[in-house]
Amino acid sequence: MDPLGFAIDCAREAGEVLLARFGSGLLYEEKSRRGDLVTEADRESERLILERIRAVSPGATIVAEESGVHTGSSDERWFIDPLDGTTNFAHTYPLFCVSIACERRGELVAGVVYAPKLGELFAAECGSGARLLANGEDEILISTSSVEHVSDALLCTGFPPGGLGANLPSFRALSEIAHAVRRDGAAALDLAFLAAGRFDAFWEFGLSAWDVAAGTLIVREAGGTVTASSGEPLDYFGRTILASNGLLHDEMRERLGRLRDSD
Ligand code: IPD
Ligand code: CA
Ligand code: CA
Repeated sequence: MDPLGFAIDCAREAGEVLLARFGSGLLYEEKSRRGDLVTEADRESERLILERIRAVSPGATIVAEESGVHTGSSDERWFIDPLDGTTNFAHTYPLFCVSIACERRGELVAGVVYAPKLGELFAAECGSGARLLANGEDEILISTSSVEHVSDALLCTGFPPGGLGANLPSFRALSEIAHAVRRDGAAALDLAFLAAGRFDAFWEFGLSAWDVAAGTLIVREAGGTVTASSGEPLDYFGRTILASNGLLHDEMRERLGRLRDSD
């Protein structure tokens, strides 16, 4: 099985599920935390993706947001966010996506982030670069930006559902240094936008493996750098992430470190 081709088809199919339910009223429930929403679209999209993966790779381990870890017997592992940006989706804000990543023997081999309402699909295969497939347009290779200083940058960040977590000091300070800091509400898409040069750096505290796995490969294949916010190697289960065009990485890491120290 070609993991990238499979993930692209699967993300498109899941995207259709989301579009069919988009705008059909605020049918959401709150999970354990205030503001942590889930809709029937999240569940239906996840059911479809699990079914498709099991059909082609029955031994794979699957780490999926709504149903947790399904432990398999092979050395293949999939990370699934069936709907990243659920709050946006529930309020008909069009920035939401499906995120699918495949790892073999501990290496990310394919990642897809598909934003159906934008008609944009971002895809990367290890060693082959990152691409944007936009509806009605030719496929293009994407690359991260060439901005060298945070003072010239458009940054993006995110906050945990229902609050600000530990991110307020960083958000405030970096907002006063950069051109601006966006908070778009879909971490996987934030990473894909960074890969396409639309943002220059992205950081967040409190993310999960399914939020970051696909976007990490897409950013790296587009020429960018992804680590934990401390600059240590990224641990998908370590919650923090700093992704950048590479040129801004040291400055971002130092600034985030100084802010954390002064908390
Ligand atoms: C959320 C989004 C958001 C981020 C949150 C995530 P969900 O994922 O990625 O941008 O700030 O921390 O939980 O719940 O919409 O899949
Ligand atoms: Ca998510
Ligand atoms: Ca989700």
